[in-house]
Amino acid sequence: MNKVKKIGVLTSGGDAPGMNAAIRAVVRSSIYYGIDVVGIYRGYDGLIQNDFELLNVRSVNHILNRGGTFLKSARSQGFRTKEGRKQAFENFKNAGLDGLVVIGGDGTFTGAHIFSQEFQVPVIGIPGTIDNDLAGTDFTIGFDTACNTALEAIDKIRDTASSHERLFFVEVMGRDAGFIAVKTGIAGGAVATIIPESDWTIDELISKLDKGAENKKSSNLVVIAEGSKLGSALEVAEKVKAKIDYYDIRVTILGHLQRGGSPSAFDRVLASRMGVAAVEGLKEGKSEVMAGIANGHISYTPLDIAINDSQELDLDEFRISKILSI
Ligand code: F6P
Repeated sequence: MNKVKKIGVLTSGGDAPGMNAAIRAVVRSSIYYGIDVVGIYRGYDGLIQNDFELLNVRSVNHILNRGGTFLKSARSQGFRTKEGRKQAFENFKNAGLDGLVVIGGDGTFTGAHIFSQEFQVPVIGIPGTIDNDLAGTDFTIGFDTACNTALEAIDKIRDTASSHERLFFVEVMGRDAGFIAVKTGIAGGAVATIIPESDWTIDELISKLDKGAENKKSSNLVVIAEGSKLGSALEVAEKVKAKIDYYDIRVTILGHLQRGGSPSAFDRVLASRMGVAAVEGLKEGKSEVMAGIANGHISYTPLDIAINDSQELDLDEFRISKILSI
């Protein structure tokens, strides 16, 4: 096994609370094992543009509790091209790096997989995305915090919804996955939760609302994932408005506020465990795997499986959200 002497770390794609905690864990565990570590700024763009900085234990002081990522992030267009990746490899080689830790979601892992295949670069991924949509890990970094942030907003919307006896459509993030919607739908007491994975019809939704009105429900919140097949929250609200007149309807789109804020204790610990696992994996000669936590234990899942075998939504949670929303 080749001794790993120097590695790079970057964050890429949509930022997620807890990414800083993961960087800190990568830096500190590398130093613990006598490995030099270089921070690469703005994701793969920084790899192409040679925007590197040697980090030390103090470089990651006081970032454990901070949202965002101090290394910055980007959805790199350049890295999608062969020339971009070639330039990135030149910089990687010239910096004397023996491995790379990438923190991000499916787009980040897809880039890492291609890069590693093309240039035989040892790469380990850490799942960092609020979407929770990667297979091989119970949770991704940032998901718990995003759910808590969305829930805090939903609770506040509930206050005004109930004071005015209104129906609110609250849109949460999730282009392709309904994880945030299902969790916050249950925790926020939504009358209905609309996710990309299910096929609610407008008529089913209306009949649910009709029942609520019959039962004298004084406020209704519908949580809807941005990628719902019924349309965006605004579109669904318009369709419902056209069919019922017994509720005054409003729409709130939570948007990027779900990506910010100080990470929860859960995300800090998750990120710390995964960061150490990524460095230990590289040290042991692993590559093209994601360092995740499955059934509570560290696990290494091939990147292509993490990306392609989508994480199963907990259908039982979806089922109980329906039972409890009468
Ligand atoms: O992947 C994380 C995520 O926040 C998704 O939930 C959302 O659909 C998307 O990123 C938004 O991307 P952007 O910040 O590029 O608008």
